[in-house]
Amino acid sequence: MNTVAAAEDRAVPATSYDPVARGLHWLTVLLVLAEYIVGSLMPHIRIGTPFVFVIRLHLALGSGLILVMLARILWRLTHRPPPPPPLPAWQRWIASATHFALYVALLAMPLAGWASASAHGFPVRAFGIIPFPALVPYKARIGFTLGDVHADVIYWILLALIVMHVGAALYHRVIKRDSVLGRMLPGW
Ligand code: HEM
Ligand code: HEM
Repeated sequence: MNTVAAAEDRAVPATSYDPVARGLHWLTVLLVLAEYIVGSLMPHIRIGTPFVFVIRLHLALGSGLILVMLARILWRLTHRPPPPPPLPAWQRWIASATHFALYVALLAMPLAGWASASAHGFPVRAFGIIPFPALVPYKARIGFTLGDVHADVIYWILLALIVMHVGAALYHRVIKRDSVLGRMLPGW
């Protein structure tokens, strides 16, 4: 490529998130989906429930998600996202508010689950390898309460945010046929 073309290339603003941001986005999607599925396959948890494979898997993937979210937030704060898509201001505002709420829910959900795991006496190892300390003491009431919040409250809030978010992405792709999906999936 000659130097003029290279300079022009650099002048064109990026329209997609960078590969690391995209990779972390799709890894989050995989982990969250897996957590909803594995979580719904787990036996009802109470004191004395054996630490069976599905519970170990749920804890390992969910605590792994905490690390992925921390990496994602760090990356997001230190790397400029592409300029906003050409949408009306109100739509951009709703998109930003939904993204922010997703970040909050994606931290609150695993943190509440971690507290519940600690209260039930389950050890937590991110991806089955990196040991996490107990977040609350064994049998702490706050841990049981956060377990209920995890399974009955944030469960639905996160699901509703995901439905809105995926609905918006598909609306842009299928109905409006604009380039919004391509920001996370270049070429689409
Ligand atoms: C986004 C991440 C997560 C999702 C989507 C998720 C999803 C779920 C689901 C669907 C259930 C079953 C709810 C029910 O049967 O009513 C559940 C329960 C549970 N999850 Fe998670 N989970 C996540 C992260 C975590 C993490 C990181 C931990 C612990 C390290 C964890 C620990 C638990 C525990 C202990 C329960 C039983 C709750 C109780 O009854 O006290 N979860 N989760
Ligand atoms: C568990 C499911 C999902 C979660 C938790 C999630 C989370 C997020 C978050 C937090 C952002 C904001 C990124 C930032 O600005 O830092 C985002 C952006 C985006 N997501 Fe997702 N996402 C999910 C599934 C999907 C799916 C299935 C699609 C496609 C069908 C999708 C398409 C997009 C697109 C296109 C953007 C960029 C929006 C823009 O800036 O214009 N997401 N996602």
